[in-house]
Order: sequence, then C-alpha cells, then structure tokens
Amino acid sequence: MKLSGFNSLGFVLIVFVMLSACSTFAMTEFNVLNFGANLNGRTDSTNSFLKAWNAACGTADSTFIYVPKGRYLVGSLAFKGQCKSPQIIIRIDGTIVAPLDYGVLGKSDNWFSFEGVSGVSIIGRGTFDAKGPSLWACKASNSNSCPSGATTMSFTNSNNIRINGLTSLNSQMFHIVINGCQNVHLRGVKIVAAGNSPNTDGIHVQLSRNVEILSTSIKTGDDCISIGPGTENLWIEQVTCGPGHGISIGSLAKDLKEEGVQNVTVKNTIFSNTQNGLRIKSWARPSSGYVQGVQFIGSVMTDVQNPIVIDQNYCPRNENCPGQISGIKIKDIVYEDIRGTSSTPIAIKFDCSFKNPCTGIRLQNVNLTYLNKAAQSFCSNVVGKAFDLVRPNSCL
Ligand SMILES: *[C@@H]1O[C@H](CO)[C@@H](O)[C@H](O)[C@H]1NC(C)=O
Ligand SMILES: *[C@@H]1O[C@H](CO)[C@@H](O)[C@H](O)[C@H]1NC(C)=O
Repeated sequence: MKLSGFNSLGFVLIVFVMLSACSTFAMTEFNVLNFGANLNGRTDSTNSFLKAWNAACGTADSTFIYVPKGRYLVGSLAFKGQCKSPQIIIRIDGTIVAPLDYGVLGKSDNWFSFEGVSGVSIIGRGTFDAKGPSLWACKASNSNSCPSGATTMSFTNSNNIRINGLTSLNSQMFHIVINGCQNVHLRGVKIVAAGNSPNTDGIHVQLSRNVEILSTSIKTGDDCISIGPGTENLWIEQVTCGPGHGISIGSLAKDLKEEGVQNVTVKNTIFSNTQNGLRIKSWARPSSGYVQGVQFIGSVMTDVQNPIVIDQNYCPRNENCPGQISGIKIKDIVYEDIRGTSSTPIAIKFDCSFKNPCTGIRLQNVNLTYLNKAAQSFCSNVVGKAFDLVRPNSCL
C-alpha cells in the first residue's frame, strides 16, 4: 500500500512537471524588436509596442511580449481588452523613456493605460522613466499654464493583474493607478521621484477589490499609497515609504455620494521623514461614505510629522467646505505595534467629525516619542480603547 501510494505521488509529480513545461513552451512570444521597436532611445517606438500588444491580444493562446534591454522612446499608449489570449505576460528588461517635451504625455491622462484586460502580468527588471522633472518645474513656476500630467501606469476595469519587479521613475503625476479592478498583485516594485515633486502619488487604489501591494519601496512627493472610495480587501505588507506623504485612506468625501472603504490591512511598514504615517483623511463635506475594518499592524516611524492621524476636517484654502461637517463614518480601526519618532509634538491625532464621531478605535503597543521626550495625543469626537503600552498617553 505504502509503495503504491509513493509511486502514484511520483507519477503525479512527473505529469505535473511535464504539464508545466508544456504550458511554458506553448506560449507564443512577441518581441517588440520584431515589430520595429528601436532600442536607441531616440526613435519613437510607440506603434511597435501597440502592434506587439495587438498581436498578443489577438492570439488564442498564452502569450509573452518581450522588451529586451535597451532604451525605448514611447508615447502615450492604451492596451485594451477583451483579448483572445487568456494570459499575457509582458516582460520588460529595458528602460522605457517618455518624450522629453512634457506636453506630449501631458496631453493624456495616462502613459501606459491598461483598460478592460484580464490575466495580464507585467514583470521584469525594467524601468519606466516618465521624465517628470520638467513638468514639475513648470508647475512650480506658473501652474495654471501647465498640463496636469499623465499617470505612468494605469489599470482600469481589469482583473487578475500582476505587476512584479519594475521601477517607476519620475512620473509626471501618479506612478500607478488601480481603478475599478479585481485581483491585483503588485510585488517588488520600486517607485522613485523627488520629495518635492507635485502630485506624484506612488500607488492609488480605488473602486477595487482584492488588491495586494507587497515588498515595495516608495520614495515620492505625495502619498506613497492613497486609497480612494470603493476599496475593499486591500492588503499592504512590507512597504517602505519616504520621502512622501505616507499611506493615506482618502481624501474621501470629495463627492456627496461615495462608496465606502473596508477591510484594509497595512502590515510591517517603514516610514522615514514622511509628512504622515498612517492617515485617514476626509473633506469636511456631507458625503455618504464610510471607512471600516482597517488594521494598521507593525510600523516603524522615523521623524514622521503626523505618525497616526485621522483628519475629518480637511478643507484646504477654506474652499467648498467652510462650516460643513464630514459625513464619512469611521469605525473599527486598529493601530498595533507602532513605534518610532514623531517630528512634531502631536504623534497621535484623532480629529473626527462632530456629527459622525469615529468609533471602535483601538490602540495597542504604541510607542512614539518626540525629541526623546513624551509626545502628545489629540482627540476630538472619537470613541475607542487603548491596550498594553500606549505612548503618548492615549486620549481615547
Ligand atoms: C479581508 O481582506 C483579505 C485580503 O486582503 C481577505 O483575505 C479576507 O478574507 C477579507 N475579509 C473579509 C471578511 O472579507
Ligand atoms: C519607547 O521608545 C523609546 C525609544 O524611541 C525607548 O527609549 C523607550 O524605552 C520605549 N518605551 C517603552 C516603555 O518601551
């Protein structure tokens, strides 16, 4: 009995190995060089990339698009589904560079846009260099006449997406946007832009379910990760952030009718010299949305201006909201094992809505100091409990 059990296991293993080998060989490969792409970094290769996508997308087989080492000048592109190919792997080992004139990309909302696709993986050691600094300089000097700029990589209404190992450098606007998607796994990505670059959020997620962001390093000028309305089942783990504005749920309540945010886990994060650490933020407007079931577990902060913050009274320049109260209902938020240093006296700030107090806030094992001394906490319209050690002393 034992022996035959062992044999059938061996047989299953052999079949498994054969099957996986077959499925690798069965992939149809499309190299962008065969579609006329030029790796000198000066000749426009936009159409070659699009042709390679169209060829892969139209093949009723698993497909592989290869971008070998080299520099490729590529303008704004939309990769659209539905595809015949059930699985498209795009392997990028080269550097993709945007046109130097920021106006070329800046006219579009996105640089690389994936729309309505399913089963697409974008992997490799390659880099997207969006050449953002000239647009940032324009915005710094006379912002009214500059285009708002393109998101480097955008995914809309797409499912079963993998992004692995790539670098996004100097985006014009957001680096990566995940909007209206399900089952997105992002791992080992590097995001780099200057700490003073405007609106260069690292990863923005909204109206999406089952998104994972793992082992990712983000240095940028705005939020490292921003989480918008309609986000459900989001898992963030081993993310380092800084410079940047931290990991932020919100801004919410921009619109009167908004979907809620629920079941978000943010685990084992490192913040260095950021504006915020773990933030929930809503405009002071009577929106219908909510935030519930959020776990912030395991964070190390170094010189963070607002390590833990809920701000429901956001109303910059007092435009469109003076005298109004946030309608967002915030409940069941856990902060556990958070330690390090605040660069301002108030390390914990819960500034909730007068009409909709925050409830079910839980602090456990928090130790945040300011200049080697005790920091302070601030509470307004908040109900919750503190467990174990909490420094600064909890005002819950
Ligand atoms: C919450 O999200 C995680 C993934 O981030 C998922 O594994 C879990 O099942 C979700 N929980 C609920 C109650 O939906
Ligand atoms: C809190 O952290 C500081 C260093 O940041 C450390 O010196 C102190 O002992 C910690 N307090 C507790 C009670 O663990």
